[in-house]
Amino acid sequence: GRVAAVVPAAGSGLRLGAGLPKAFVELHGRTMLERAVAGLLDSGTVDDVVVVVPSDRVREAESMLARLRNDDHLVVVATGGAERTDSVRNGLAALTATHGDAGAAVYDVLLVHDAARCLTPAAPTRRVVEAVRSGEVAVVPVLPVVDTVKQVDDDGYVVGTPDRSGLRAVQTPQGFAPDVLLAAYDAAGDIATDDAGLVERIGQRVATVEGDALAFKITTATDHARALTELAGSRP
Ligand code: C5P
Repeated sequence: GRVAAVVPAAGSGLRLGAGLPKAFVELHGRTMLERAVAGLLDSGTVDDVVVVVPSDRVREAESMLARLRNDDHLVVVATGGAERTDSVRNGLAALTATHGDAGAAVYDVLLVHDAARCLTPAAPTRRVVEAVRSGEVAVVPVLPVVDTVKQVDDDGYVVGTPDRSGLRAVQTPQGFAPDVLLAAYDAAGDIATDDAGLVERIGQRVATVEGDALAFKITTATDHARALTELAGSRP
C-alpha cells in the first residue's frame, strides 16, 4: 500500500506578518509549501501529497507543484477552510475522491504535515511511517520540553506545574492508519490544534517517536530568520 500526506497550507500567516499566506512566503528561493512537499517526496517514504491552500491560490499552487508531480507521485491541490481542522478534512476528501470507489483503501499510511514545518528532514518522517506500518494506529514525532511549563488560570495566575519529564512538544508529520484518521475526522465536532488530538477523542492510542529540531514550525519572523540561517549556504 501507498503512503499519502495531507499538507495544510491555507493559514493566513498573520503572525508571520509577511502580508501573504505563510506557506507562500519564500525561503531562500523556494516557497515554504514547495519545500515542505519536496521534503516529503524526497524522504523516499511518501508516494502522494495533497496540499490544501486558500481558494485564490489554487492555480499558483498547481504551477508551483507541477514539477514535483510524476508517474510515481500524485500531487493534488485542494481548497482550505476557516480552521486547520476544516482544511485537513477538505484535503482528506479530495485525496479519497481521486481514487473513486477505492477511496483511502489504496493507502497503508496517511500523514498530516504542516507546510510551516518545511525544513523537516527525512528521518522523523521515516520513523513515523515505520511505526504505523508496524501496527500503531496513530504516531506523533515529539521532542522533550526544555522549558518548565505552567498551567495558568484566566487571570494569568499559576495553578500548577506539570512534571516536565512527562511532557513532550509535538511536531508533524503525524501518521495514522487511514481508517482511524478518517473516523476521527468524521467524529470531530469542533477544532483541534493537532490531528492526533482528534484520534485521542475517539479513544484510540497515540504512540510517539523521536522528532527533530529541524522540524520546528515557522510561525513568527524570528522563526523565519532561523530558517534562513539553517538554509544559508545550501542551494536554493
Ligand atoms: O496557524 P498554524 O501555524 O498552527 O497552522 C499550521 C498549519 O495549518 C499551517 O501550515 C497553516 O497553513 C495550516 N492552516 C490551514 N488552514 C487554516 C489554518 C491553518 O491549512 N484555516
